[in-house]
Amino acid sequence: MTLLPSLIFAVISGLTGLSAATTELRRADYTATCQQIAAAVSSESKVYYSGSPTYNKDNEHWASSSSQPSACSFEPANAQDVGIALNILGENQTPFAVRSGGHTANSGFSSTPGVQIALFQFSEVVYDANAQTATIGMGLIWDNVYSELDKYGVTVVGAKTTGVGVGGTVLGGGYTYLSNQYGLSVDNAVAFELVMPNGTVTSITSSSDPDLFYGLRVSFNNFGIVTTVTMKTYAQSQVWGGRISYAEAQWDPVNTAIANFVSKVTDPKACVYSTTDYASGAVVIMNILFYDAPTYPDGIFDELLEIPHLEKDISTRAYSNLVQTLPANASSGLRAMFHWVPIEQFTLPILEMVKNQTLYYGELLSESSGFLISYDLIPFLPSLYSHSDTPSAFPSSRDSGQGYSFIEVYYGWTNASDDDVMLRLGAESAAYMKQFAVDAGQDVANALIYPNCAPPGTAMEDMYGDALPHLQSIRSAVDPGNVMGLTGGWRF
Ligand SMILES: Cc1cc2nc3c(=O)[nH]c(=O)nc-3n(C[C@H](O)[C@H](O)[C@H](O)COP(=O)(O)OP(=O)(O)OC[C@H]3O[C@@H](n4cnc5c(N)ncnc54)[C@H](O)[C@@H]3O)c2cc1C
Ligand SMILES: *[C@@H]1O[C@H](CO)[C@@H](O)[C@H](O)[C@H]1NC(C)=O
Ligand SMILES: *[C@@H]1O[C@H](CO)[C@@H](O)[C@H](O)[C@H]1NC(C)=O
Ligand SMILES: *[C@@H]1O[C@H](CO)[C@@H](O)[C@H](O)[C@H]1NC(C)=O
Ligand SMILES: *[C@@H]1O[C@H](CO)[C@@H](O)[C@H](O)[C@H]1NC(C)=O
Repeated sequence: MTLLPSLIFAVISGLTGLSAATTELRRADYTATCQQIAAAVSSESKVYYSGSPTYNKDNEHWASSSSQPSACSFEPANAQDVGIALNILGENQTPFAVRSGGHTANSGFSSTPGVQIALFQFSEVVYDANAQTATIGMGLIWDNVYSELDKYGVTVVGAKTTGVGVGGTVLGGGYTYLSNQYGLSVDNAVAFELVMPNGTVTSITSSSDPDLFYGLRVSFNNFGIVTTVTMKTYAQSQVWGGRISYAEAQWDPVNTAIANFVSKVTDPKACVYSTTDYASGAVVIMNILFYDAPTYPDGIFDELLEIPHLEKDISTRAYSNLVQTLPANASSGLRAMFHWVPIEQFTLPILEMVKNQTLYYGELLSESSGFLISYDLIPFLPSLYSHSDTPSAFPSSRDSGQGYSFIEVYYGWTNASDDDVMLRLGAESAAYMKQFAVDAGQDVANALIYPNCAPPGTAMEDMYGDALPHLQSIRSAVDPGNVMGLTGGWRF
């Protein structure tokens, strides 16, 4: 059984010594599992095959590097049917994938040659005004959740970008514009409906099962399949902000303005998210400015607004609308890698170093065709990790005293033959930046890497630190048969 994931990987990457006949046999087995699931579940839950538009939607991901053709896709309509499918998948030892918004960039994390489980039918948002919570289906993207909750003048803490799924965020971390006020998405979950690996459906809260409640918050699909999450809601007025873009010539004044902003502003309602893209020899700096009120106080964004810019889309608007101002869908369909560098403070030397990395790797790759490199940074307050009532698997004890800002490395490209070199260069750049910060006296040497932005092959210790043994014991208790080992992603 432990051989299975590596075998599957070999089949996908075409490096296999298996004969074509063996591969065909495997596909036939997977299709038999699909048929068995279709026959066993209720009529509202559906199985789709190649050729159906729903099958295409279920298999498609934001990054093409994480898409692969499955034997079939399965859209369960209720938790009981998820449990029936898990039992069949476990008995047949058929590989499978669980997807919510499909925004992981890592191959096999939410895709499979076996059964692709897509959660789109879990699509309700139920607001409870008395409890000040919302129960949210795991098939939704945050755009839908925010706009639904806008109707009641409330919101939840999800992701800051259009298109991102609820599942990978609330089971994986969730940094957003509201995080300085309310913490990460995982800090705001109060209950999960979990289908355990043995098919039993249960509700997990901090009192019903403290271990699973701790572990689910940043364990993705290790402990089963989550169908809904109940989250704290917060009153949400209109917000001020949006996108402002600058040409390369303004890079230095923009860096100076960001360093000034970070050194002066400690208001948790204010946020700047700065992305710099290098593609086809050109640099564009795109900042998202955010203030959690209809206007911003004390001129805090004036310096950034007064720099000559290419264009801007800034206004007082609904929160759900602000989240759509970063054009993240524009680069969907590329192969992609992410990396993550924790930073204590964005000083001018750190920002100048990031500029040099962008130019250095941009120019290095300028001979190759069809690539985009992006260095994105977001300053947070040191109190970032102090908003949870109970501890979660990430950030674990090693980090809990100190919240980090971070640099996100995003490389996108078109040709699969470039996978190795792009992954290597992205990792090299991230290591350089981390060492630079350490050499500059920033206390980040032991800071954990955000699992949602870690590239394939990242050591589990580097993401989960001291929490790992506890997570491994939770895993063996809830999944003694290792059913979830049939799916991909970070494994305890
Ligand atoms: C354009 C873009 C913008 C982003 N912006 C942000 C951001 O603002 N903040 C932030 O924190 N991160 C951000 N990310 C990273 C993002 O959080 C991760 O990619 C996240 O995993 C996406 O969740 P998803 O549900 O869309 O992904 P999926 O690929 O569907 O799932 C990711 C992983 O979670 C597992 N999973 C998903 N749902 C379930 C479930 N219900 N039960 C069990 N396991 C499940 C999957 O099996 C898979 O291993 C961004 C990524 C991209 C590409
Ligand atoms: C981005 O794509 C998703 C579908 O994946 C869509 O729901 C969303 O509205 C798009 N965002 C924008 C700003 O167009
Ligand atoms: C720019 O980055 C490259 C690659 O990491 C590094 O070798 C070089 O020393 C840096 N240049 C400066 C001026 O810091
Ligand atoms: C992808 O790269 C390989 C190896 O460099 C090359 O042979 C192939 O033509 C490229 N494919 C495309 C579509 O550019
Ligand atoms: C499934 O596992 C849970 C937790 O280990 C247990 O409580 C439950 O009884 C099991 N269900 C079945 C049907 O064995």
